[in-house]
Amino acid sequence: MTLFDEIVSLTKRRGFIFQNSDIYGGLANGWDWGPLGVLLKNNIKQLWWREFVTKREDVVGLDSSIILHPQVWEASGHTKEFSDPLIECRTCHKRFRADDIEGFIGDEGTWNEDVVKTFQCPSCGTKGNMTSPASFNLMFKTFLGASEESANEAFLRPETAQGIFIHFKNIVDTLAPKLPFGIAQIGKAFRNEITPGNFIFRTREFEQMEIEYFIRPEEWEMHFNHWEEELKRWIELVGIDMGKVHFVEVPETERAHYSKKTIDVEFDFPFGRKELYGLAYRGDFDLSNHEKGSKKSLGYYDEASKETFLPHVIEPSLGVERTILALLFSAYKKDVDEKGEERVYLDLPPAVAPYRVAVFPLLSNKPELIEKAKEVYVMLQNKNIPAIFDKGGNIGKRYRRQDEIGTPLCVTIDFESLEDSAVTVRERNTMKQERIAIQDLDSYIRTTTQ
Ligand code: GAP
Repeated sequence: MTLFDEIVSLTKRRGFIFQNSDIYGGLANGWDWGPLGVLLKNNIKQLWWREFVTKREDVVGLDSSIILHPQVWEASGHTKEFSDPLIECRTCHKRFRADDIEGFIGDEGTWNEDVVKTFQCPSCGTKGNMTSPASFNLMFKTFLGASEESANEAFLRPETAQGIFIHFKNIVDTLAPKLPFGIAQIGKAFRNEITPGNFIFRTREFEQMEIEYFIRPEEWEMHFNHWEEELKRWIELVGIDMGKVHFVEVPETERAHYSKKTIDVEFDFPFGRKELYGLAYRGDFDLSNHEKGSKKSLGYYDEASKETFLPHVIEPSLGVERTILALLFSAYKKDVDEKGEERVYLDLPPAVAPYRVAVFPLLSNKPELIEKAKEVYVMLQNKNIPAIFDKGGNIGKRYRRQDEIGTPLCVTIDFESLEDSAVTVRERNTMKQERIAIQDLDSYIRTTTQ
């Protein structure tokens, strides 16, 4: 089994990620989050929110709708520009992105259709039988109300960012934030990708964590650098292996239509080096287009300079699923366990691990041990320490299970615990064991799993 297959298999076996509509044969390239996946995902989103909203005085949160006024997408350029060049094999009718073919995008960003003419279909092997490339808009279309007329056409948002721009004025009017300030949002985005795949790497439904950071235009470089550093800090904090991460400036011809400078944060996935996150300087592209589109003034009065202008924007944009995929490939480790047998463990930072601690009775058929273990488990839960109680199988199996889901600590209640009110605590990575008094357990867990 390849590393990729091993990780996909672990995520299913341990209840992190299931195939969408599994019992109906699965919806291709769709994935759902199981009980452990939900915990991991929520922890990542909470950590991001804590770091970039709660802990900062200059960033506020927002939760806008998935379906916005269709004019939003006209103004943002998505109706016209948010497309990929689509080609279809005339033999097997499989569809591909022409921009994945080497040399298709020319120096000026133009399409070089000649490379398509000689392209060999990756699916059926036929050479030179592709259709000419055509722009395929990635936005998912839907209809509002009962009639499917073009007047009722609407779109599922392809990025959370636009919800932020259209509420810029509301936030300025209600909270009067001073520049520089940011608006953050976490939520679903939808793209009708031509080639979804590589597990949760490219899907049609995914979540983004985005900040639009509004600045004085002349200060853009300073803020761009600041957010580049913040992205590095985040990557280490969340547990992604920095040795596999690359910050790459995107050439002008390949930048998104709105961007004046972009850094792609790439990660060495087993299927190649691919985009993990994006950091873009969007100028005043969005605010000025929404000003034109809505005919509402979005100018900001800056008390410092006594001028009214459209702030510029720095945008760190992070995908939740790609965070998790890069994290899984960073955290997946193998060594030998206490018995000298191979074990797999997820080296997850405690802040994102589904549980901080697992609590076991040494034996599963001794009511007095089960009762004491339950007592300890409830005590930890009541102290807001995410804990799981496990009495299935023998202790070795339980360690193996907890290692595979990345639980940093396992606590075992044995016969001695009934006498001395102490427990054995085993640490996931080192497998070292320590005896800790039950009354000190919560503070021990807190300090060792910060
Ligand atoms: N608002 C800017 C924006 O949306 P993007 O580079 O198109 O920029 C930002 O997307 C991030 O969203 C990506 O870096 C990636 O983490 C995530 N993302 C984009 N498309 C995705 C897809 N189809 N599946 C999973 N994640 C995706």
